Amino acid sequence: MCRLAGYIGEKEAVRIIMDSLSRQSYGGYDSAGVVIGSESNIICVKSVGRLENLEKKLEEKKLKGNWGIGHIRWASHGRVSLTNAHPFSDCQKKIYLVHNGIIENWRRLKRKLLDKGHRFVSETDSEILSHLIEDYFEGSLEEAVKKALREIRGAYGLLAISKNEPKKIIAARLSSPLLIGIGEREGEYILASDPAAIAPYTKKVINLNDYEIASVNPGNSLLIVKERKLQFLDFDVKKSEKGPYPHFMLKEIMEGPETIENAVKGRLVPEEGTVKLGGLEEVSEKLKRINRLLLVGCGTAFHAAKVGKYMIEEYADIPCEADVASELRYRKPLLDNKTAAVFISQSGETADTLAVLREFKKKGTLTIGITNAVGSSQARETDAGVYTRSGPEISVASTKAFLGQLTVLAMLTVFLGRQRNMSLVTGKRIVSELSKMPRLVRKILKRAPEIKKLAKKYKRYQNIWFIGRKYNFPVALEGALKLKEVSYLHAEGTAGGELKHGPLALIDKRFPTIAICPSDSVYDKMVSNIQEIRARQGRIIALATERNREIEEIVDDVIYILKTLEMLTPLLSVVPLQLFAYYTAHHLGRDIDKPKNLAKSVTVE
Ligand code: F6R
Repeated sequence: MCRLAGYIGEKEAVRIIMDSLSRQSYGGYDSAGVVIGSESNIICVKSVGRLENLEKKLEEKKLKGNWGIGHIRWASHGRVSLTNAHPFSDCQKKIYLVHNGIIENWRRLKRKLLDKGHRFVSETDSEILSHLIEDYFEGSLEEAVKKALREIRGAYGLLAISKNEPKKIIAARLSSPLLIGIGEREGEYILASDPAAIAPYTKKVINLNDYEIASVNPGNSLLIVKERKLQFLDFDVKKSEKGPYPHFMLKEIMEGPETIENAVKGRLVPEEGTVKLGGLEEVSEKLKRINRLLLVGCGTAFHAAKVGKYMIEEYADIPCEADVASELRYRKPLLDNKTAAVFISQSGETADTLAVLREFKKKGTLTIGITNAVGSSQARETDAGVYTRSGPEISVASTKAFLGQLTVLAMLTVFLGRQRNMSLVTGKRIVSELSKMPRLVRKILKRAPEIKKLAKKYKRYQNIWFIGRKYNFPVALEGALKLKEVSYLHAEGTAGGELKHGPLALIDKRFPTIAICPSDSVYDKMVSNIQEIRARQGRIIALATERNREIEEIVDDVIYILKTLEMLTPLLSVVPLQLFAYYTAHHLGRDIDKPKNLAKSVTVE
């Protein structure tokens, strides 16, 4: 996704802006640009492709100056090209800006500006902004930005500068994250979309709210439309570095055990067979009264929601629906005061998920967040919530965050269940098993070399099917999503029972299946599905519970996982699938942490 950065201070702005962009580049991008201001001049440099290309151009130009803004772009409106890269300027080349988000009414605005004689160079919606600001400019950039934004429909995180107002950055936000870091030295500011870009310089930040506009200028200190409280970033820069691993994805899969440990730390109460979730205390009485739950997310977070539905329905006796946010936002779900909604998101900034959250809040629905990013929009806007505490997830493909989400959903199940009919014995059992999960995941991770070999064996297949039932149906979906994202092979996930309703038509010896079949309540049903595939000469890798030797007779390969409660098996079964996706992509030489066409934290619709 697009990310922006800005700097004002005494240091070389270009160095800090480039570092900030590179720290946000994990999200995926396809072009980049900066504009740097000095005492006498303002110079804009852009490039297509990696930041290294921009770096080379900057070295040639030897840019000097201590204020400026920069951007990395992930193409949404207009193809990847130099002219479509940010920053954009007005006709006079006096105002420059960078923009994240989408301007929905850009066509109408562009027509109006063209009629007034403005000349556009790009195909983007963002360029409208620089011309619109120029149109309103009467001497104050801040006033012009304010007036221009009143005409905009859509989302923006915006930084604008003007040649006529040196050492001043105007920052504005609507539905796109924007942070202002207050530097160590008086009058130093670092602006960015992501805390990762600010944390190396300062921990003191202001998180702009929607509709706020800030004028950042050392002389005038920091002027924000509304008075805002300073926050302190809880962000460990070391944790966002690769360390000895070749890719963030592998590092993050390997961090699975500590992700679960962190999620449960201080929250399990084994003697009472329950959990203590501080973030839900205030709404605990309200939660006792609800009789329906909607679980909402996108992509991997939606798969976690689907697992949560099985957990909560079975153990907390609350009817649940799991929904994809992009669909739910255009449906008409029937909400009443006994319905609560749980929003699941690693980044807490996913546009579709936030749109549903905001719509539900307008209707008075109780909203709960399961979020990784502290201080994110989702965390701030939900009525209550539980942090997953997974630490920074840098790889575009989400892995450890999924484990964090499943762990919190299991704890939420105990929390809600114990408010209702869940017995002390059942509560104790789940809590005790949860505390063992880090050890079990660690044991599975030791099998990485085995899975690497298997990935090598299967990498030549162009298509792979994933099947599972009940708790492992969403894991089949997640296994397929992970594989297609990073290896670019075609992968599909289905409920085992659905095979013969259509997908079986595709199965033959060139189309292998990964069957998730731990020894649980649906094991025999999965074996029947495996037989159906075998009868069509389909090759099969089974994910089975340790010591199940009989499975070896009916499948080609087996990956063993360990025994646990059925509701917690997804925490174990997903790990080999994450590794399988990673190693397949590795054998195929893919760009694993930044898969083509994808971006992390999808802040546009
Ligand atoms: C898949 C992946 C995406 C995200 C989805 C939601 O590997 O990363 O499918 O899960 O974009 O993102 P968050 O959790 O940030 O809302």
